[in-house]
Amino acid sequence: MDKFVIRGGSPLVGEVEIGGAKNAALAILTAAIMTDDYVLIENIPDVSDINVLLEAISGIGAATERIDRHSVRITGSTIGAVSVDYEYIKKIRASYYLLGALLGKYKHAEVPLPGGCNIGSRPIDQHLKGFRALGATVEIRHGVIVASAENLRGAHIYMDMVSVGATINIMMAAALANGNTIIENAAREPHVVDTANFLNSMGANIKGAGTDVIRIRGVEKLHKSEYMIVPDMIEAGTYMFAAAATRGDVLIKNVIPKHLEAMTAKLVEIGCEVEEFDDAVRVCAKGRLGRTHVKTLPYPGFPTDMQPQISVVLSLAQGTSIVTESIFENRFKYVDELACMGASIKVEGNTAIIDGIANLTGARLCAPDLRAGAALVIAGLAAEGVSIVDDIVYIERGYEDFDQKLRLLGAEIEKVSDEREIRKFRLRVG
Ligand code: UD1
Repeated sequence: MDKFVIRGGSPLVGEVEIGGAKNAALAILTAAIMTDDYVLIENIPDVSDINVLLEAISGIGAATERIDRHSVRITGSTIGAVSVDYEYIKKIRASYYLLGALLGKYKHAEVPLPGGCNIGSRPIDQHLKGFRALGATVEIRHGVIVASAENLRGAHIYMDMVSVGATINIMMAAALANGNTIIENAAREPHVVDTANFLNSMGANIKGAGTDVIRIRGVEKLHKSEYMIVPDMIEAGTYMFAAAATRGDVLIKNVIPKHLEAMTAKLVEIGCEVEEFDDAVRVCAKGRLGRTHVKTLPYPGFPTDMQPQISVVLSLAQGTSIVTESIFENRFKYVDELACMGASIKVEGNTAIIDGIANLTGARLCAPDLRAGAALVIAGLAAEGVSIVDDIVYIERGYEDFDQKLRLLGAEIEKVSDEREIRKFRLRVG
């Protein structure tokens, strides 16, 4: 099993290039099968979640051709099955987008209940409610969601809570329904907007993405398109907080600064300098940072996918911070790992009370999920001495070349597969 071994204690300094947004790419690659024409998608991150999704898409017969590391050409004309294999689905949660895409295009979809990171119960009732409102019958049989309709018809749908996945899934199915759909209380995340823009580039008629009311006029069919995915705000945010935790100075390139505002605001509040350029941000942290309170919220609030990373920074800040997780109930599993490094964090329900300490010390850690795994790497980079982060398969689901990009910023981090390599690393770094 691969691990990262890290010698911490040095500031990250330099420039890092951000890739395409994983969560947008998952939705957009799935939506690409909704036309029988060729679709070219560019700026796809080369991470394992995407590669599993591409296998799932090929598994139903669509042709996927990698043009280069970050571009894929897809055609849905060869799809022979509307039933998706459990092998893929158990690995990635976003496979549920195949429900909306197949239901919209073929009016029938069979998709096993989704897997993904274990960060809470993660029901999909809002997705199913939306499909039913569009006129589909939806049943769960032997762990498989079976959705079908004679015809989908537009509907007025009020989401009971703000859900990124449900908003995108309903938007995809409604794009090919008869008549008009209105989604109220829609998610406003940049990847909702990116998916709507992509569907529109294929001939869909979607307005209002990025606000909480999305209006979709159904069209008969979609056509070919070439599309470039937006930059990944969570990858960018991860490097922003890595710069802060290590008291570094990092220029994060190829970003949309507007998407990063919630994170920028918190970094400024705790004492970082953040400079915004057209498509880059620079984060510079001098000295010990201050405390703050954070509550995760749907976009444009502070993202739940950045909660572990900010908690690492606050574990080293001066004073007591309170971090409230309001989206997923099981997202503090990394706290026990940070405790091994000396952090002083107490979790009560959905709140973590963090008493900042001056230094973390290196320890052997286990990544509990994707974002928490990245946060533990940040902790390792900031800590004194050597840390080992196990179970990095989670991290590789969402971060392309994480160790290489960090090395370019001066980090001492290596991917190793056994104890012998860890010993060699220890001897080398002294
Ligand atoms: C997406 C992101 C994930 C991010 C999350 C919140 C992808 C592939 N994943 O996940 O990285 O952490 O948004 O920004 O894009 N809920 C229900 N019923 C539903 C749907 C959701 O109760 O039918 C609840 C969830 O349990 C959660 C909240 O709504 O408490 C938000 O979930 P949602 O926005 O749907 O998250 P995902 O789309 O799964």
